[in-house]
Amino acid sequence: MELPWNDPRSNKFATTIGLITSDGPLGPNIMACEWTHHLSYDPGLIAISLGFTKATVENIRSSKEFGVNLCAIDQSLLSSVAGGYSGSKYDKINALRELGFEFYEGSKIKSLMVKGAALNVECKLFQEVTCGDHIMFIGEVVDAINNPEKQSLIYHDGKYWSLQSIVKPNQEERDRIRKVLESYKK
Ligand SMILES: Cc1cc2nc3c(=O)[nH]c(=O)nc-3n(C[C@H](O)[C@H](O)[C@H](O)COP(=O)(O)O)c2cc1C
Repeated sequence: MELPWNDPRSNKFATTIGLITSDGPLGPNIMACEWTHHLSYDPGLIAISLGFTKATVENIRSSKEFGVNLCAIDQSLLSSVAGGYSGSKYDKINALRELGFEFYEGSKIKSLMVKGAALNVECKLFQEVTCGDHIMFIGEVVDAINNPEKQSLIYHDGKYWSLQSIVKPNQEERDRIRKVLESYKK
């Protein structure tokens, strides 16, 4: 069955937003990608799922590399521009520069990287897999810089959110959980 875009069931997922930077036949580009996931620690692998028609697909297929910049809570405008216009018709990078955002040169890849993102990861293409109506590009991490002052922006229910921490079970609750689990030991 289908689980379509903007369906209340699809909207229950909460994700970070990968700002995917690329360079290739369509020039330097950036797109917003909620389907950005950490897949493996060693080697570090990150998957991004892109619709077939995205300009970013053409760039990654040609350059075999891409940047994953996790959008910070003060960068929602950047996400809306990157996710609302296609690099096949607009030079989003220079438009974003004019809107006050900054980019820097990647150290291991040709793509530009986003200044002030929560996390900047440079990836070399590891594998491409067609998954239904999207293409999953799996990137092997070749450089990763954490920005400890920035929190990741969250995407949920078609809106932007910030994270709020919820307390973990306290010792008393953990003791009770352990007791119950011990009685169900296999
Ligand atoms: C918050 C947000 C999240 C998005 N997530 C995805 C995604 O996971 N996969 C995808 O293919 N498009 C996603 N999009 C849509 C693309 O970013 C949009 O189609 C963009 O114009 C593609 O850019 P490009 O053609 O320059 O590659 C998202 C858009 C927004 C605003």
